[in-house]
Amino acid sequence: MIISSSSSKTREIGKKIAKKIVKNRNSIVIALFGNLGSGKTTFVKGFAKGMKIEEEITSPTFVIYKKYGGIKGKTLYHFDAYRITERELLSLGFKNIIDNRDNIIIIEWSENIKEVLPEERIDIEFKFLSEKERRLIVKDKNGIIGNIF
Ligand SMILES: Nc1ncnc2c1ncn2[C@@H]1O[C@H](COP(=O)(O)OP(=O)(O)OP(=O)(O)O)[C@@H](O)[C@H]1O
Ligand SMILES: [Mg+2]
Repeated sequence: MIISSSSSKTREIGKKIAKKIVKNRNSIVIALFGNLGSGKTTFVKGFAKGMKIEEEITSPTFVIYKKYGGIKGKTLYHFDAYRITERELLSLGFKNIIDNRDNIIIIEWSENIKEVLPEERIDIEFKFLSEKERRLIVKDKNGIIGNIF
């Protein structure tokens, strides 16, 4: 469990997790859960910095996903499943995207597409605690990951 006390802290957490992932893994799916304003996009902005992506990250709510080229030939796919169904996601070629070993996929509103999430993934649950505080819980299929850094 991580408590973030500001949006810049949440960005910093995203950046650290990205650096660790880019160093240690090929592709990965990171499923974000949590309500409106709980800090998911803020986290992704930091994550993109950790992948040395210079472009500004904006919420892909209306376009469903955006892709960005990062370091080590990695591509970041940033999905927002707020207004889509599993079927629509699959029709966008989601399976091929997650099967590509060079892709790192982060999905906001994973609650909405649970059925198509691969078993091999990292889940991050965001919870609004107070105006500036958010709680993050990072898990994989074996349970809570304590030492993500
Ligand atoms: N500790 C914190 N971590 C993240 N964001 C914070 C924090 N404290 C305040 N905020 C503010 O909360 C808002 C979080 O918005 P953000 O867009 O990241 O949420 P979201 O989970 O992506 O929401 P949505 O479901 O609408 O996409 C921002 O305005 C941010 O500045
Ligand atoms: Mg968002």
